[in-house]
Amino acid sequence: MNPLEGRNILIGVTGGIAAYKVVEVASRLKKSGANVRVIMTKNATEFVSPRTFQEITGNPVSVEMFAEKIHVAHIALADFADLLLIAPATANFLAKAAHGIADDLLTTTILATTAPIFVCPSMNTNMLENRVTQENLKILKNLGMKIIDSASGNLACGTIGKGRLPEPEDICAEIEKFFAENFVPREKNSVEISAGFGEVLTIVENPLPLAGKRIIVTAGGTIEPIDPVRYICNRSSGKMGYEIAKVARKHGAEVLLISGNSTELQPENLHFQKVESAEEMRRAILAEYESTNAVIMAAAVSDYRVKNVAAQKIKKSDENLTLELVKNPDILKELGQNKGKRILVGFAAETENLIEYANKKLEEKNLDMIVANNVTVEGAGFGTSTNIASLIHRDGKIENLPKMSKSELAEQIVRRLEEKFLLKEG
Ligand code: CTP
Repeated sequence: MNPLEGRNILIGVTGGIAAYKVVEVASRLKKSGANVRVIMTKNATEFVSPRTFQEITGNPVSVEMFAEKIHVAHIALADFADLLLIAPATANFLAKAAHGIADDLLTTTILATTAPIFVCPSMNTNMLENRVTQENLKILKNLGMKIIDSASGNLACGTIGKGRLPEPEDICAEIEKFFAENFVPREKNSVEISAGFGEVLTIVENPLPLAGKRIIVTAGGTIEPIDPVRYICNRSSGKMGYEIAKVARKHGAEVLLISGNSTELQPENLHFQKVESAEEMRRAILAEYESTNAVIMAAAVSDYRVKNVAAQKIKKSDENLTLELVKNPDILKELGQNKGKRILVGFAAETENLIEYANKKLEEKNLDMIVANNVTVEGAGFGTSTNIASLIHRDGKIENLPKMSKSELAEQIVRRLEEKFLLKEG
């Protein structure tokens, strides 16, 4: 997954000739999966029409602080941003930002946001090298803003020198690098803005409903060794768990995917730990359980392991070979006994009495929801790309879902998880 996927990037465009280059910046960010919004200063609209940015980003463009048809207020925009990029940043803008002047939507948003701010100064060389501008840049740097240095080359004023806006690909590379290195999603504060007089000016849907949540997803079958060559495993492909992990990540959660045996490729941009035995999986979960908000146990955990694992390959001798198996810990049950405020989701792959057995597991393991499926039905269960599942909730509600792809089912499961978070927190 691209590090920009699902990120909220707010671009502030000020009134410089390089504003046209920022159209490409917005376009590249959007193509990489980011949600892009743009604020333009009034002067910026002399260079590029707000409509251009609107078409490119698919979002309304905000210009004026008190416009009649204001789309989003400064607080909402400030809160929306995972990162605020100012490009091009004029000398006038740098001066205002450095001194806390907030006389338009962009400069007000800057004061209101807690998101990291990247600034791309772009102007004539003399203006850039002017001591006042240099002092302002120093102030902004000391305030923690990242200054993306201007490039050198032909300038719009006909001279050659420093002051060009860096190429769009270089600006985007800086932002991508930032998100690749700063993985954890920022918590969002407010989503509703009151305009006073009982009127709600705008409601910004939080685009990442699981932002700030830490979720463990397990997947695949565990491997229980018999000797150095052989093991006991099961038919789980891991696909269901991997899909859930990807959807939860897309919805803004910080995800740890703990995987047993699986044929799936390791997804990008989430924490990943490969394990073999049930005991190893248990330890991996418990190590992170304290700071985790939800666990989705899609793994097919072996209920038994070989009591005495042979140190050397077992040679064939007698007609019969007996392996003594001992019970593995029931991981989910253990998590359920120390559940706290967490949400626990289990799976029940059954071959008969689906709802009855699944319900029993929901109770015994103290779960909030169990995803039950009859693995003997065509289009459900192991190794298929589809599944037919029933979602059984703690309050007794049962949803019998139609046959759907595992990625669609993952989407449904993650949405139910979001509802449960809302219920618990509301
Ligand atoms: N599970 C677990 N630890 C185990 C066995 C299962 O955490 N030792 C979890 C699974 O990941 C799944 C749920 O418990 O989310 C139900 O697993 P399942 O194998 O269907 O049920 P069991 O409890 O093992 O019961 P049985 O095998 O008798 O059906």
